[in-house]
Amino acid sequence: MAYDLIGKVVLITGAAGGIGAATARELYGLGALLVLTDMQQEAVDQLAQEFDAERVLPLALDVTDVEASKRVVQRAVERFGRLDVAFANAGISWHSNPKTLRICPSDEFRRIVEVDLFGVWNTIQAALPEVIRNQGQILVTSSIYAFLNGLVNAPYAVSKAAVEALTRALLVELGGTGATSSVVYPAWTDTAIVKMAFGGNDLATRMNETVMPSFMRQPIQPQQVARAIVQGMRSRRARIVVPGRWVPFALLRGLLNPLIDSYLQRHKALQKLLRELESGQDGGR
Ligand SMILES: NC(=O)c1ccc[n+]([C@@H]2O[C@H](COP(=O)([O-])OP(=O)(O)OC[C@H]3O[C@@H](n4cnc5c(N)ncnc54)[C@H](O)[C@@H]3O)[C@@H](O)[C@H]2O)c1
Repeated sequence: MAYDLIGKVVLITGAAGGIGAATARELYGLGALLVLTDMQQEAVDQLAQEFDAERVLPLALDVTDVEASKRVVQRAVERFGRLDVAFANAGISWHSNPKTLRICPSDEFRRIVEVDLFGVWNTIQAALPEVIRNQGQILVTSSIYAFLNGLVNAPYAVSKAAVEALTRALLVELGGTGATSSVVYPAWTDTAIVKMAFGGNDLATRMNETVMPSFMRQPIQPQQVARAIVQGMRSRRARIVVPGRWVPFALLRGLLNPLIDSYLQRHKALQKLLRELESGQDGGR
């Protein structure tokens, strides 16, 4: 039976971003009550203005702060009486330019993992007691980077693979409780986080164009991701791959990845771009 979203209380992290806001709009249309969280209060306040004030609670939350995450859940319960779904969606990539591991500053690596992995874990920890109590759901935004080679995006890919593992473990551990968890795997989506690889940074853009067939690197709109997420939520799907053209890759990853890694390792044009990228950086570890 479909999971009915009418009256369900859904917490979204990174709600002011492209995918978070689009998902909030879809959920609102299906009758959910929304706890919208992001780094800046003004950003979630602005999004909340689109909705009936009775059905929305906008709160500032940095997901790297577990105590603040717990307070947000408490506020949600005080306001709406319950929390049914937590969508751990906040994420970051490089602060400025993309880097190889050879020149990646250690503190930037840590910061990305802090938000993209530990931020998700903090959200799960904070929300889990309520989600289990209400036989609800945890959804986590991973990425196709959970199974693609993470070249020049390693801390991000590491985190996205890790949250996939986390969410799969959680799914099985929740067996018999009535609560479930889902991994969301969006491909490139037209939001702020992805700008660098699509024109924002010349070398990253050229690398994409060099190694990837064009049909794979067409960014989709956040609304398409949001619709897939909400459909997945309604049917409690454990895996939500969007767009669908990535499903065969997701299924065949065990076979394809060794072949692709080997192909990329020998790719002369890619090697040239990688060295160019490294020589243009200060390498400040
Ligand atoms: N856009 C893509 O191509 C793509 C593909 C796969 C996965 N994703 C993932 O989707 C999720 C949403 O990203 P998006 O594409 O909407 O990008 P976005 O940059 O528009 O949104 C990310 C949001 O997360 C918020 N955020 C960043 N750090 C935070 C922190 N410490 N605490 C709370 N909020 C924080 C930002 O303020 C922003 O609003 C991310 O996890 C991202 O990694 C994006």
